[in-house]
Amino acid sequence: MNDSERALRQQVIDTCRQLEARGLNQGTSGNVSVRCGADAAAGFFLTPTNLPYDRMVPEDVVHVTLDGRCMGRCRPSSELPFHLAIMQQRRDAIAVIHTHSTHATTLACLRKEIPAVHYLVGLFGGNSLRCAEYATFGTPELSANLLRALAGRRAALMANHGLVVIGSDLPQALALTSEAETLATIYWRALCAGQPALLSDTEMAVVVTKFRDYGYGPMDASNPNP
Ligand code: 13P
Repeated sequence: MNDSERALRQQVIDTCRQLEARGLNQGTSGNVSVRCGADAAAGFFLTPTNLPYDRMVPEDVVHVTLDGRCMGRCRPSSELPFHLAIMQQRRDAIAVIHTHSTHATTLACLRKEIPAVHYLVGLFGGNSLRCAEYATFGTPELSANLLRALAGRRAALMANHGLVVIGSDLPQALALTSEAETLATIYWRALCAGQPALLSDTEMAVVVTKFRDYGYGPMDASNPNP
């Protein structure tokens, strides 16, 4: 393993530890992946299954090729299918984070999307964070449901499961994960207090356009809004 590969594997582990420090994941819940480099064909690094983040070292992170072959001493995350499907089908996805963060997962258990309750919903590419239909973890059905919910978006909830976020690198994916959990918290609290007012599609289109100049870059054109 060369120095830059070791550094990227360590960045995956540091991201997992940040998720835990921010209260977005704990123990072995959730998983993280990042592309190996500029050459998309090189595949990606993925957290191993069922290994607490505080015990993870760079050698435990699994190298996955774009055709799904896994290399390393640990078994890959049980959510390999959706990380692989996203890396194959979303060229804009350099990093992927999955959490069971409390408020996002609460809404996912209610099978509610996060609507345009706050303008920062626009950071995720549209006027909502959709909720993917339920399917068993680690299955191709879950990958298909999730990809549909992610069309034209940087994040989606998964029914009775959690949150998935796509970023242009690990720091951006981490920042967006915190933002998605905050939006879920705000929406949940607003629902508890009354009937939140939602921003119109017209206003959200303005916001999404403004965010394109805000450093979030374009999303994969092969995945337009449905
Ligand atoms: P893994 O430890 O296999 O990544 O599973 C954690 C998880 O959150 C599954 O959804």
